[in-house]
Amino acid sequence: MNKLIIKHNELTAEEFILLWEAVGWGPGPSLEQTRLAMEHTLFRVSVFDGDQIVGMARVIGDMGLDYYIKDVIVRPEYQKRGIGRMLINEILQFINDHGVEGTDIFVELCAMPDKIPFYGKFGFSANEAQRLRLFYRVEKQNDSGEA
Ligand SMILES: CC(C)(COP(=O)(O)OP(=O)(O)OC[C@H]1O[C@@H](n2cnc3c(N)ncnc32)[C@H](O)[C@@H]1OP(=O)(O)O)[C@@H](O)C(=O)NCCC(=O)NCCS
Repeated sequence: MNKLIIKHNELTAEEFILLWEAVGWGPGPSLEQTRLAMEHTLFRVSVFDGDQIVGMARVIGDMGLDYYIKDVIVRPEYQKRGIGRMLINEILQFINDHGVEGTDIFVELCAMPDKIPFYGKFGFSANEAQRLRLFYRVEKQNDSGEA
């Protein structure tokens, strides 16, 4: 492994989809959706070993009250080497740099049960709230008003 390089806000949609598929999350989202998502993400962090992307994470939010960590992924063959910790530390540093001094800010994420101990290392804990979700199908109306 070469010296790892951390990059800020350079993660591309193509790299995002590559890592998504590398950890077996199924076929990645479409390029169009992912490009929009990258564009509107508050902070993207990626880690490289030479030319190869080996980890990524991003945070979305409103900068004032809420930050939400998404898509923390380390390439399988690079896991358990401290890269996940690097990614979360970079995000917490970003929040500290941009949050209002002296205030408390919610930093949230959604984790599968087997990943909770990883996030616990940074102080995250589960509350009693359940994650609700809806896969919403976007349908545009045509000029005649028909769906
Ligand atoms: C979760 C994930 C990002 C962790 O990345 P990683 O690079 O392996 O983590 P690190 O090596 O930086 O581990 C940091 C610490 O967490 C611990 N840790 C990592 N994964 C853990 C797990 N699943 N359960 C318990 N502890 C874990 C490590 O032992 C290490 O502890 P230490 O610092 O006390 O030695 C990685 O396993 C991954 O990408 N998984 C697949 C994608 C995924 O599920 N992402 C999370 C979405 S919720």
